[in-house]
Amino acid sequence: MKVIKVKDYNELSKVACEIFVKEIKKNPSLTLGLATGSTPIGLYQNLIKEYEKGNISFKDVKTFNLDEYCELERSHPQSYYTFMHENLFSKIDINLDNVHLPRTDGTDLEKLAKEYNELLLQNQIDLQVLGIGSNGHIGFNEPGTSFDQETFVVELTQKTREDNKRFFNSIDEVPTHAITMGIKNILAAKKIVLLASGKAKAEAIYKTVKEQPTPDVPASALQLHPDVTIIVDEEAGALL
Ligand code: GLP
Repeated sequence: MKVIKVKDYNELSKVACEIFVKEIKKNPSLTLGLATGSTPIGLYQNLIKEYEKGNISFKDVKTFNLDEYCELERSHPQSYYTFMHENLFSKIDINLDNVHLPRTDGTDLEKLAKEYNELLLQNQIDLQVLGIGSNGHIGFNEPGTSFDQETFVVELTQKTREDNKRFFNSIDEVPTHAITMGIKNILAAKKIVLLASGKAKAEAIYKTVKEQPTPDVPASALQLHPDVTIIVDEEAGALL
C-alpha cells in the first residue's frame, strides 16, 4: 500500500483529484467506483472544476457506487442516489444511463443485491475511491465481514448509525439496513484510492495500514490488493 500524507482536507482533495484526472485522461471511457460520505465531496468539487475548465469529460465514463441505504426512496434527500446527483452527476456531462447505484426500492432486497453483484461481475472497476468508517468499514462492510463477501444486504451497526445520524433529524430516521458492494467486489477494482481526513479516522487508519489484515477491520483487506493508495491528512495519519 502506498500512503500519501498531506497537510489538510483541501490538499487531500486536490491530490485525489490529480489521480482521477490522470486516469480519466488515459482512458476517457473508464469505469469509476464511487463513494459517498463527507470525505469524497472535496474530490468531487475538484473534478467538477476540472470538467468546467475543459480538462476532462465524463461523457463516456461509467460509474458504480459502493452502497445505498434501504428504507429510503431514491428521491429522499439522504439517499446516496440524491447525494451523488447533488454533489457530482448534475454538474458534469455524464450520461445518466452510465450511472449505477444499488437499487433498494423493492421488497426482495436479496434479489436486488444479487442483481447489482451481477452488474459488477460484468463491469470491472478501473479506479475505486473509498472513504473509511471510524470502525474501519469500507462501503458498508462492517467489522466481521468476510473478505470473500460479495454484494449483500447488511444490517448497519449502532456505531455507523450514530456516525451517520448527523445527516438525519434523529437516530430513529437513520436506516437500519443498506445494500453494499462486498469486500470481494471492492478488491476486484484495478486501482483503489482510500481517503481519510480528521482525527476520528486515525485509529482505523493505523489498523488498516500497520496491523495484520483481519475481518475485524474491513479496510485492512486492502493490504491484499496490489494497487492501493491511501491519502491521509495530518489528523487521520497521526498514529502512522
Ligand atoms: C458511510 C459510507 C462509507 C463512508 C463512511 C465514512 O458509512 N457508506 O462509504 O466511507 O460513511 O463517511 P465520512 O466520509 O462522512 O466520514
